[in-house]
Amino acid sequence: MIPSRVIERKRDGGAVDGRTLEAFLAAFLEGSVQDYQMSAFLMAVFHQGLDAGETEVFVRTMLHSGTVLDLSHLAGPRIDKHSTGGVGDKVSIALVPLVAALDIFVPMMSGRGLGHTAGTLDKLEAIPGFRTDLSLDEFRCVLQEVGCAMIGQTAEIAPLDRRLYALRDVTATVPILPLIAASIMSKKLAEGLTGLVLDVKVGAGSFIPEEDRAIDLAQTMVEIGVGRGLPTVALLTAMDRPLGYAIGNALETAEAILCLKGEGPADLRAIVRLQAVEMLRLAEPALAERAALSRVESALDSGAALERLVRLVEAQGGDARVIDSPQRLVTAPERVDVVTASRGTVLEVAPKMLGEGVVALGGGRMRMDQKPDLSVGFQMHVQPGDEVRPGDRLATVHARDPEGARTGEQLVRRAVTVGEVGQAPELRQLVSHRVDGDGVVSL
Ligand code: URA
Repeated sequence: MIPSRVIERKRDGGAVDGRTLEAFLAAFLEGSVQDYQMSAFLMAVFHQGLDAGETEVFVRTMLHSGTVLDLSHLAGPRIDKHSTGGVGDKVSIALVPLVAALDIFVPMMSGRGLGHTAGTLDKLEAIPGFRTDLSLDEFRCVLQEVGCAMIGQTAEIAPLDRRLYALRDVTATVPILPLIAASIMSKKLAEGLTGLVLDVKVGAGSFIPEEDRAIDLAQTMVEIGVGRGLPTVALLTAMDRPLGYAIGNALETAEAILCLKGEGPADLRAIVRLQAVEMLRLAEPALAERAALSRVESALDSGAALERLVRLVEAQGGDARVIDSPQRLVTAPERVDVVTASRGTVLEVAPKMLGEGVVALGGGRMRMDQKPDLSVGFQMHVQPGDEVRPGDRLATVHARDPEGARTGEQLVRRAVTVGEVGQAPELRQLVSHRVDGDGVVSL
């Protein structure tokens, strides 16, 4: 294998044969293919794409570059969920304990926020003491004891993906659909699952705004999962507006807790329920949708899901008093209400602008080595379709200082569009498509 020949072949639009590509990736991992050569190759892939065979080589090589967990000793199904990332997406914090309360093990490894989207790990760390850096042994113990555990990708899981992702991040080569699919699926396949639900966000606040590309990504990931014997289902969910009202790490954690108390925004509750139903039906394929929904509802209504969150927080070293007293989450010193002077209908709440706004307030990162302020963000008071009158609050900005509060206020004013009374916003359906091994269904 001659690295420059591999780069040349991809640059000129050819497919690289399996053994050569495997050797190229292995040589990168052990250091004889240099970062500059891999960067050139990735840019060639950005322009020329990968075929199904090449994508499979990436999945296989990334997956087997590290530990593949064997959790078969656990007495029950092992199902996880992964979201491609959006603004206000705090679903996992409510979903994981809910599904664990349905006697399904949920071994979740999640990511941190990058760019305008926040990550589950940062949101969990807004709970004082909560450890997301458990070793694999600690992870196994919490999983066995509580039925779920939520940690970051450890160094042992898919190290080739970790190195490639770091390089893609700084060489403008993240948006390559087959590589995104291979990257996500190699990590999920390493978790030793018996089922996987994917939440593919679509709309302006997603990494993939266009519906056709989001469907393409969903299909590629489902094919990878099903092709390797992992039953996989993807739902396409709306990210043309934020999910729920809270945007910013600690604020989102508080909203996810509310969801487990049967409160909080209807859109968040709907997505959590739907994904829980999908996870339950992967665990018990013979279960009818209605019966699955009724089991999910009763785990919520009985308090079993909330109780499971308390156990999870305690097991991972966090202060579980946050569940009854959300003021114990990290909080920002400055709070400013942004009120409207208009009467009309909210037509748009621009998700990407608000996600970038959290970064501008110090609550995100543009590079993986940055440490965000978990307390800042926007507590929105409106969603598209709401009627407002002069003096109504659009949002409360949570900031570190008065300057941040001013910046936040300007951002809210730019992000929220109020139209005429009675005008209807153009919105995507909350859940628009379902993809499984049998194909794509438009809902
Ligand atoms: N998330 C991942 O894990 N990998 C990608 O390539 C993109 C998003």
